[in-house]
Amino acid sequence: MSTNRTQPILAPSLLSADFGRLDRELAELEEAGLSWVHWDVMDGAFVPNITLGAPIVKKCRPKTKLFFDVHLMVDRPERYLDQFLDAGANLLCIHAEACTHLESALSRIREGGARAALALNPHTPLTCLDYILPQLDMVLIMSVNPGFGGQSFIPFSLRKIRDLSKRIRSEGTETLIQVDGGVSPDNAASLVARGADVLVSGSAFFAHPPYSERHQRFLDEALKGLESGE
Ligand code: DX5
Ligand code: ZN
Repeated sequence: MSTNRTQPILAPSLLSADFGRLDRELAELEEAGLSWVHWDVMDGAFVPNITLGAPIVKKCRPKTKLFFDVHLMVDRPERYLDQFLDAGANLLCIHAEACTHLESALSRIREGGARAALALNPHTPLTCLDYILPQLDMVLIMSVNPGFGGQSFIPFSLRKIRDLSKRIRSEGTETLIQVDGGVSPDNAASLVARGADVLVSGSAFFAHPPYSERHQRFLDEALKGLESGE
């Protein structure tokens, strides 16, 4: 078994939840033993879809202790960081492809008291992490092209996760690796074996209640991956 690996975390993506009863969904996730929840913010420009903004996150914040992992799929995310920090995001993840002044945006997130993360689209090389890896609490490897739930996992993402894991180990940072898109119990073990720490799942989670059993199923698979990993 590998050493110093964190226990894998499942972060359900609310994109597949019932937006008409978000507060109940959050309560049910917490009751089912989840600790993280993944918010997919889409602007209709960086990605084709539109979802939700900071006011909804802010209204939900007092209703739960869940860790709010906010994935900003928006152009020029620096325009919205303060809004989401004020809304109570625990982690803000911005896209490398959407932000010109990455260093300052990542600094702003940490100054605002949240953890800072960078998302990479499937084709975006890991070289874009040069120089800024120490500023990142997490790197999100997109394993689908962002914009929609329910897409198929892109197989070359497995190699990218492994390459990133090696790089993090060689640089000695504490950066977590998150994987988002087409994640299910069927591939959870192989993702964790290659170095994934946080698995995001939308359709393969919410379509299979009860949430406590589905959570356990993911964790069982993830632990198999942790035990077989390098
Ligand atoms: C995709 C989003 C994902 C998505 C995952 O643009 O970032 O979080 O909701 O959904 P599934 O698990 O259905 O691929
Ligand atoms: Zn996401």
